[in-house]
Amino acid sequence: MSRILILYYSRTGNTEKMAKAVTEGAKTVQGIEAELEFHVDPETLADFDAIVIGTPTYHHDTTVDVKNLLEESAKQNINLKGKVGAAFGSYGWSGEAPRLILEVMKNRFEMNITEPPFLIKYTPDQIGLEKCREFGKRIAEKLMQKI
Ligand SMILES: Cc1cc2nc3c(=O)[nH]c(=O)nc-3n(C[C@H](O)[C@H](O)[C@H](O)COP(=O)(O)O)c2cc1C
Repeated sequence: MSRILILYYSRTGNTEKMAKAVTEGAKTVQGIEAELEFHVDPETLADFDAIVIGTPTYHHDTTVDVKNLLEESAKQNINLKGKVGAAFGSYGWSGEAPRLILEVMKNRFEMNITEPPFLIKYTPDQIGLEKCREFGKRIAEKLMQKI
């Protein structure tokens, strides 16, 4: 089994809805074990083959929790090189946060990132949730092709 972590932060529930649908989509691919979490320790990241981070944009930035995790992982030299990485999130008007995450994944951790990040404005509707499922499925398929 290949393991995908879907890690998210959400203040008002929009990115959480997206994260649940991304996880559902990833689980439809055979050979994939997808785990949805809102907090993990840096060492745990190394246990996964793909890391997908969901973050809303607040004040043109990602959230403190996500920042702390990435900073702590860098400090502890957690090796994520070559792992599949992707990012998504809900936003209101600018939506920079998932892009910032992808930059860190690529430049600091040398992960194999999927671009562009996946964004939904405010609350995902049924079509948005279906797109989230497709996004999760696409990441899972990318992982299966890599192995
Ligand atoms: C105080 C505050 C600041 C925000 N700043 C931004 C911002 O800089 N850029 C943006 O695109 N959206 C911004 N938003 C909108 C949120 O990203 C949006 O409400 C999103 O759906 C929240 O996701 P969540 O429910 O997962 O927390 C802001 C919202 C609030 C309440």
